[in-house]
Amino acid sequence: MHTKILGTGGYLPSKVRTNADLERMVETSDQWIMERTGISERRVAAPGETTATMGAIAARAALESSGLAPQDIDAVLVATTSSSCAYPSTACEIARELGIANAAAMDLAAACAGFSYAYATAHAMIVAGQARHVLIVGVDICSRICNPHDRTTIILFGDGAGACVLAASDEPGTLAVRLSSDPTCGDLLRLPNPARDEPPSEDNYLLMRGSEVFKHAVVILSRLVDETLAAGGLAPSELDFLVPHQANLRIISATARRLGLDMSQVIVTIGKQGNTSSASVPLALDEGVRSGRIKRGMNILLESFGGGLTWGSALIRF
Ligand code: COA
Repeated sequence: MHTKILGTGGYLPSKVRTNADLERMVETSDQWIMERTGISERRVAAPGETTATMGAIAARAALESSGLAPQDIDAVLVATTSSSCAYPSTACEIARELGIANAAAMDLAAACAGFSYAYATAHAMIVAGQARHVLIVGVDICSRICNPHDRTTIILFGDGAGACVLAASDEPGTLAVRLSSDPTCGDLLRLPNPARDEPPSEDNYLLMRGSEVFKHAVVILSRLVDETLAAGGLAPSELDFLVPHQANLRIISATARRLGLDMSQVIVTIGKQGNTSSASVPLALDEGVRSGRIKRGMNILLESFGGGLTWGSALIRF
């Protein structure tokens, strides 16, 4: 039994937050943000938007492009760490919105690596015969978990949703998946849940030791892409596209260099989207597919890393 992506979808809120907007919020500059991160703007969810409303739009687009009907979906998996409710899960709310009945539905939390974890789980469910069609969504509203006065985080993150439909297939589509973590580095990137028995605190925002995360990311991703290609039996030269987590353009370029890829073979969305956490990889995949750059039969490497620390990848024949 193999698995293959049938369709992809994405959604970005309409409100744009530019570097000039950030210059008015914190002590920073467009030049500093561009040079250190490659980000020029990011999207911000409107007050009424939630991970469920945003995820549902991306999920509907993925379902439409897959050619399947809501009743064909056996499971809905949502990677997020910014949902409005612990339950009903964002997965249940998206299933309700799309009219998907009797499907397994759950949220997964693996920070910015969440989509890789959801993809690997969907793949395993299909290979084990527990599902034939799985709707996978990555969605986060990072603007609400970043301290608006913290210039080290507010400049990096954005809001968005991406989705894909993974299906049972006779021919290989998913060639290899890898998941891993380093729980000893949890303090480098933390998002505490508000304590219910204490007054609201600024400490409940995302806390990051950026330069340390940066160094870990470069080393981890180099190892990860090598291991994933080896597990899938492909040489770097056989890769058509890298679809990386969009955390920092310098991290993306380092991974591309490691693989010997030209930047024209990398889907880069960070400039206009920032880091959308769980949504970044499926949004980049959708962008690659809808722009016509990623075509059927191409070898694609997806990778992501995030708080935990956690990381994961999928090598795909699209
Ligand atoms: N504007 C202007 N100056 C800023 C700034 C901002 N938005 N944020 C930090 N600075 C300052 C720092 O205070 C520091 O000043 P100092 O030298 O006087 O102490 C200086 O810039 C350098 O800070 P540093 O943190 O060393 O910069 P950096 O080159 O590591 O870039 C990040 C910072 C956050 C862009 C970078 O570390 C990064 O991208 N890390 C990985 C983040 C990531 O991927 N997170 C998500 C994982 S999913």
